[in-house]
Amino acid sequence: MTAPDRAAPVVARTPEELARIRAGLGRTALVPTMGALHSGHRGLIAAARERAEAVVVSVFVNPLQFGPGEDYERYPRAFDDDLRACAEEGVDVVYAPGVETMYPGEQIVTVDPGPIGDVLEGASRPGHFRGVLTVVAKLFHMVRPDVAVFGQKDAQQLAAIRRMVRDLAFGITVVGVPTVRDHDGLATSSRNVYLSEDERASALALSRALLSGADASVTGPVGILGAAREVLDAAAADTVPVELDYLALVDAHTFAEVPPDHRGEAVLLVAARVGSTRLIDNVPLTL
Ligand code: PAJ
Repeated sequence: MTAPDRAAPVVARTPEELARIRAGLGRTALVPTMGALHSGHRGLIAAARERAEAVVVSVFVNPLQFGPGEDYERYPRAFDDDLRACAEEGVDVVYAPGVETMYPGEQIVTVDPGPIGDVLEGASRPGHFRGVLTVVAKLFHMVRPDVAVFGQKDAQQLAAIRRMVRDLAFGITVVGVPTVRDHDGLATSSRNVYLSEDERASALALSRALLSGADASVTGPVGILGAAREVLDAAAADTVPVELDYLALVDAHTFAEVPPDHRGEAVLLVAARVGSTRLIDNVPLTL
């Protein structure tokens, strides 16, 4: 006999439905997602369950954070699978508003991320973090969570959200969860479904480069970046090349690049294109 499935989560489609449900919940944790849920998202849900009585997962592919020519249209959408995953993980409520519900008119007022919005991911994807912070702020107002859980996989996003919560006094506890990886080291991502077998093999260079950099921690910033770059240079010459966007060692809070004599906490970040897929990864380090 198989164990009975957990109760399916309640699905809310509008802020009004959500508010009615939320009124009956105690201490609540929110896990914002764009769906196509994988083991990384499941890790966040497990962390959320440890910290609250009720867990709300939002599923919304946010057009505001995609630039022109990015993958908004082809971003994977798999709502039935997502609901099943949420049921398995014991999620109480799935909030899945439509685009017209989330953005009934033009979004004139947006959240300015400050300097962190202009570097690295922000430089490669202008307007991205403004779009992320704006939708996360709206979700916070709609769900009114006590706790919100995000992945270290998107380290710059996590830092920008922490800063928004602090600077705009949201009064929400932000929890960061370490990156979940497949057995071969590739960070799990909804975008990994875009990769062919060959591209996936090449993509492993990202996590290998980070590991190589981490192994060189004692040598300081120059040694760390050199070790990681060596792996990425080799991968750039692969049959399926890894086209590097950036490799950087930054302060974990400001995301400014650290000086060569830096000691203490830092994050080693990489972004690259493999075929038509853009991938990011990072590892926190203590120097
Ligand atoms: P999405 O890419 O669906 O990711 C939702 C959350 O899952 C983010 O906090 C992300 O960091 C986390 N996550 C993704 N892959 C992970 C992995 N391998 N290990 C650990 N955590 C992982 O990030 C977004 O959506 C959106 O920008 C969002 C915050 C929902 C705003 O639209």
